[in-house]
Amino acid sequence: MKVVTTLEELWEARAQLPEPVGFVPTMGYLHDGHLSLVRCAKRDNRSVAVSIFVNPTQFGPNEDLENYPRDLERDLSLLEAEGVDLVWTPTAEVMYPPGFQTWVEVEKITKLLEGKYRPGHFRGVTTVVAKLFNGVQPQRAYFGQKDAQQARVIQQMVRDLNYPIEIVVCPIRREPDGLAMSSRNTYLTPEQRKAATVLYRALTAAKKAFEQGERDADALRKIMEDTINAEPLARLQYVSCADPDTLEELHGKVDKALLSMAVFVGKTRLIDNMLVGTGKETF
Ligand code: PAF
Repeated sequence: MKVVTTLEELWEARAQLPEPVGFVPTMGYLHDGHLSLVRCAKRDNRSVAVSIFVNPTQFGPNEDLENYPRDLERDLSLLEAEGVDLVWTPTAEVMYPPGFQTWVEVEKITKLLEGKYRPGHFRGVTTVVAKLFNGVQPQRAYFGQKDAQQARVIQQMVRDLNYPIEIVVCPIRREPDGLAMSSRNTYLTPEQRKAATVLYRALTAAKKAFEQGERDADALRKIMEDTINAEPLARLQYVSCADPDTLEELHGKVDKALLSMAVFVGKTRLIDNMLVGTGKETF
């Protein structure tokens, strides 16, 4: 496994990779969710490249960039064990050199859902992912359904900017009790960790109601809301029942939807989602 930092090192190593190349962009502190993306990439491609870069431009002023968990040594040994060919660990200077002033912005769908509460977040994501794509030039790139809106935004960016890259969205990896895997789960105390299953419970309750014939968007949102509000350690930020393509909030009768939510457990903000009525687990 080759580990590179500068663009020159990346270009040289990338030129030697047998194609197709599958690419998994990450911010490190890898868990089984990331490794499942790596395994999907291994399955589909002759080579696999992974990037590890904690991207400052996608963090808001009140989001804890400095304390974002990092463990490069452990990440590299996990990736080595998965048979990854190339790891790119650019520095902030490589990604944002002095005088940097070019941004990539997907307009409409970034203003909804997460975008309402994290202004500028997706502009940071699309800018860094565009740069990572330009560096690695993969044939396929892998994203998790866990960050559903991010996956949808990247699909849109690739379509709009004519990137010759197939975006593969992989299912959410969950702990045995249903909690979606996330680097942020490490911030939870044991008591909060138990309470955090409320997101999964709320989504499952709404999904079950949908499968039993409940088609009213407001009723589905209310089921999720009531479940979250019944958990004393949880504070709801939003629940949504949205169109899976446009991400616009739905009203009245729905035949398919992205159910999603953001919930604070203590100071930790958790998100989760499920698709209903699409016949698919992912976008
Ligand atoms: O999902 C993430 O970890 C990040 O948003 C990504 C795609 C690596 C961009 O920094």
